[in-house]
Amino acid sequence: MRALVARAVGEPPRVEEVALPAPGPGEVRVDVRAAGVCHSDLSMVDGTLAPPYPLVLGHEAAGVVVEAGEGVSRVAPGAHVVLNWAPPCRRCWYCGHGEPWLCERSGSPAAARGNTAAGEPLHVTLGLGALAEAVVVPQEAVIPVPAELPFEAAALLGCAVLTGVGAVRRTARVAAGESVAVIGLGGVGLSVVSAARAAGAEQVLAVDVSPAKAGLAAAAGATDFLLADDSLTRAIRERTGGRGVDHAIECVGRSATIRTAWRAARRGGQVIVVGMGAKDDVVGLGALDIFHSARTLRSSVYGSSDPDRDVPELARAVLDGTLDLAPLITDRCDLDSVAAAFDRMARGEGARTVVRP
Ligand code: APR
Ligand code: ZN
Repeated sequence: MRALVARAVGEPPRVEEVALPAPGPGEVRVDVRAAGVCHSDLSMVDGTLAPPYPLVLGHEAAGVVVEAGEGVSRVAPGAHVVLNWAPPCRRCWYCGHGEPWLCERSGSPAAARGNTAAGEPLHVTLGLGALAEAVVVPQEAVIPVPAELPFEAAALLGCAVLTGVGAVRRTARVAAGESVAVIGLGGVGLSVVSAARAAGAEQVLAVDVSPAKAGLAAAAGATDFLLADDSLTRAIRERTGGRGVDHAIECVGRSATIRTAWRAARRGGQVIVVGMGAKDDVVGLGALDIFHSARTLRSSVYGSSDPDRDVPELARAVLDGTLDLAPLITDRCDLDSVAAAFDRMARGEGARTVVRP
């Protein structure tokens, strides 16, 4: 089958013919019908992260189960599923503690699976490798969804939407009437914007370096669009009675934007880091400022969500019209033209590109 394979830092990923193993006990093969291109895929090739290569990219996808290995009970062939890049084990301390998104088993950037055409061992992003015609995954990594749910919407539920909605509802717990600043308006940030509005936030200040994001921010429900320039902190204070926002949600993954979010929050406010940054990109904060500002700094991993519970709930919201994902999808392409999606993302253009492998 064909898959988008990264082979080295800085080298554009290419479509290659690869071989996946047949599903073993407890595993399923899923034909991928739609896959989103997420910034974390770019981070796998631009040197931000250091995954093993050759690596099949992609971790935000939906498709149809076509084959089930021995003992599979969760789904049968024909089931429509969303892929979960952090399936919890349900046995470790974190799972038992009600924090399955921190499961001790999940979180490694890549798993070994299958071979390249030349016979080299192949790795797959976050245990999935979903920018491909198919994946072979443990049954715990698929979440059944209604067949009426369009594949494009289903794909986005698997990363950007679960992450963004969860950051608002579960990590930050945004309440009606509050103010929120969202830094970085890609697929993740725009999901945060619309979830914040849906939660009843009175002000949603959408922030980006790219002026081209203003229209997307408005479509997602932002009350204001602000450019991330030197006057940003002042502009946010001016709109929030001089104080800053109740919640500043960072959706870029850089120390500079974490500091931007820090300054955007009011005294006693919350700073939520959703972006996944690089190991050596250190955030400097003043010790006196940390004390005096009384802010809380938290990160949000996979929206502090339990995908098995929350993806079906989001699917129902899409089907009953209360969650509209159309504004998130700005481009569509096939596997051979994904390079253009990476270029757009690097330039800060558009929201999600959905690939139909
Ligand atoms: N200030 C404000 N916005 C910025 C800045 C900055 N200094 N630098 C980049 N941005 C904007 C880009 O212009 C873009 O609109 O951040 C946005 C990031 O969007 P995408 O590249 O589409 O990223 P996305 O897929 O939404 O992921 C965002 O969440 O899950 C993590 O790894 C992911 O760290 C990434 C983050
Ligand atoms: Zn992602």
